[in-house]
Amino acid sequence: MNSTHNKLSGIRSNYAKGELDEIIVSTNPFDQFRKWFDEVLEAKITEPNAMTLSTCTPDLAVSARMVLLKGFDRRGFIFYTNYESKKAQSIFTNPNASLTFFWKEQERQVRIEGKVEKVSNRESAKYFASRPRLSQLGAIISKQSSKLASKKELLHIFTKLEDEYHDKPIPMPDNWGGMMLIPKYFEFWQGRPSRLHDRIVYELTEKKTWDIYRLYP
Ligand SMILES: Cc1cc2nc3c(=O)[nH]c(=O)nc-3n(C[C@H](O)[C@H](O)[C@H](O)COP(=O)(O)O)c2cc1C
Repeated sequence: MNSTHNKLSGIRSNYAKGELDEIIVSTNPFDQFRKWFDEVLEAKITEPNAMTLSTCTPDLAVSARMVLLKGFDRRGFIFYTNYESKKAQSIFTNPNASLTFFWKEQERQVRIEGKVEKVSNRESAKYFASRPRLSQLGAIISKQSSKLASKKELLHIFTKLEDEYHDKPIPMPDNWGGMMLIPKYFEFWQGRPSRLHDRIVYELTEKKTWDIYRLYP
């Protein structure tokens, strides 16, 4: 065994910051998510809205990356991206996807599973208009997930478009916008001492109600 392995095997936390009880959790998972998300915002941690989006590629391989949560309501969870990217192309072939949040300061994980849909053009345009100009330019420039010959090429396109749009509003590109994951499954995980973690699941039933149950840690 090398020293990195020794160091890694020695890293462990004893979780003790909270508790989750199926008797007192919210009856609706969106309310429970809001409660935890408000607590995370309150704690002022960095990038509380960063989440891992896992998708399935057309050849049935799994693919995951971070994206930012930009809104949620009782319908679902919204992120913005390029519709020609690997993630979007995967979603268009197979809409099943999952989101994972890890809020280490609270010793909490949330897993959300469901299907992803495009959000309306109107909703995307509203968000696009609220973005800083440089982020808008970034959306226009990036052929996200396509091969790029060199960094120089990207900087060249960036400078060219910066000049072209310096006195004009930047239009939202057709290949960019929001996507919403509509959940059918949530799991709220709260770390507990001695690895006896709390795992509370909400599962959507055929009657569109939420079944709540606990899983072994
Ligand atoms: C913290 C963080 C937040 C990110 N947020 C987004 C995002 O909201 N939208 C996005 O398209 N990419 C975002 N990215 C970049 C993605 O992780 C990824 O590199 C990119 O979307 C291309 O992924 P794909 O090739 O699988 O489509 C973020 C990366 C990090 C590290």
